Amino acid sequence: PPLSRMLSLRDIEDVARQVLSYKALAYYASAADDELTHQENIRAFSRFFFHPRVMRPVSQCDPSTTILGYKSSIPVFVSGAALARLGHPLGEVNITRGCARTGIIQMVSSNASLSYAQIAEARVHPSQPLFFQLYKHRDDRIAEQRVREVVALGYNAIFLTVDAIVAGNRERDIRAPFELEEQEREADKADERKGGGKAAADIPAKQKDGEGVNLLGTAGALIANDDLDMTWEKTIPWLRSVTKLPIVIKGIQSVQDAVLAAEAGVDGILISNHGGRQLEYALPGIEVLYRLRKQRPDVFDRLEVYIDGGVKRGTDVLKALCLGAKAVGMGRPFLYAQSAYGEDGVVRTVDILKREIVTGMRLLGVQTVNQLVPEMVCSL
Ligand code: FNR
Repeated sequence: PPLSRMLSLRDIEDVARQVLSYKALAYYASAADDELTHQENIRAFSRFFFHPRVMRPVSQCDPSTTILGYKSSIPVFVSGAALARLGHPLGEVNITRGCARTGIIQMVSSNASLSYAQIAEARVHPSQPLFFQLYKHRDDRIAEQRVREVVALGYNAIFLTVDAIVAGNRERDIRAPFELEEQEREADKADERKGGGKAAADIPAKQKDGEGVNLLGTAGALIANDDLDMTWEKTIPWLRSVTKLPIVIKGIQSVQDAVLAAEAGVDGILISNHGGRQLEYALPGIEVLYRLRKQRPDVFDRLEVYIDGGVKRGTDVLKALCLGAKAVGMGRPFLYAQSAYGEDGVVRTVDILKREIVTGMRLLGVQTVNQLVPEMVCSL
């Protein structure tokens, strides 16, 4: 269907689910164990309702903000997600170009499917900001080289991921190769019945069920060399000694760790459970944000707070901003958009979000994102 018919992010996701290969969809969509945290990430937003204000002038309405000092046309950024080329040959570059056209910021995954240089070269203006998501190698020297490489390429901030020292148990992803083989065998059997050529059913399967099952899944293989022994005392000073770029901790999931991050002097925290892909039953980001706002409002004055996970609507973004988030990240929606429609899908996604955010701001009675305050939302 033409892009002009895509009215919501869900419409685009539906198209992506049709066009993605079996294995790519299993990797993109999968989450840990029974995928309850993933489902809850989406559902959690529906437990927060608005107290809109009326009789306020809203003809002038500006949804823009800054993230780490960089201008962003809406309070949304792309959360770094691996392997964009599984969905489209141009992969991450679709996102880089789409972000340039719409004025939002891309965080590039350590496990991007194009080189960090290729992505940096795809910037449309030399001043286009790019953030880098770091998986820290257990060998400090190898990790340092990676950081120095992206600093030299002009990346503008480091998001250190701390919630994925080992991969979560993503069974949909782990199963996909075996399900594919099964489908192939079934197809070959059907061919044989139709009198088609040689039946692959006669060829011994490369892998018998249960034998040599790669229980790591795609993610496990990608992060096999991660540092399992990071600490606030050791790792933050190490990263500070390597680069002067702003440092954001990605994967904060408790009020206690948000406070420790502020004490460690980092520039921001991204409250995230990795899209439900890591620890099953980790709390949704919006819930952690709500608790942080209640228990430790001082943290919001000491660093920038972002959340991600399950964001699909402008109202989701506005709820997070009311509770004190500076911006909101999105992972899967941008992977789906570029898989279904390339660069234009990314542009359409931002346009849809912008329209939803502006409509929501006007109906809430605010002209700027600074006017979004905790009194405007309540939790059911
Ligand atoms: C991710 N995420 C992720 N995070 C990270 O720090 N490094 C990475 O390489 C990846 N890779 C990755 C791949 C895929 C396919 C997904 C879906 C996610 C997590 C990502 O940054 C973000 O936290 C979540 O995607 C947010 O949830 P939503 O927006 O996908 O619901």
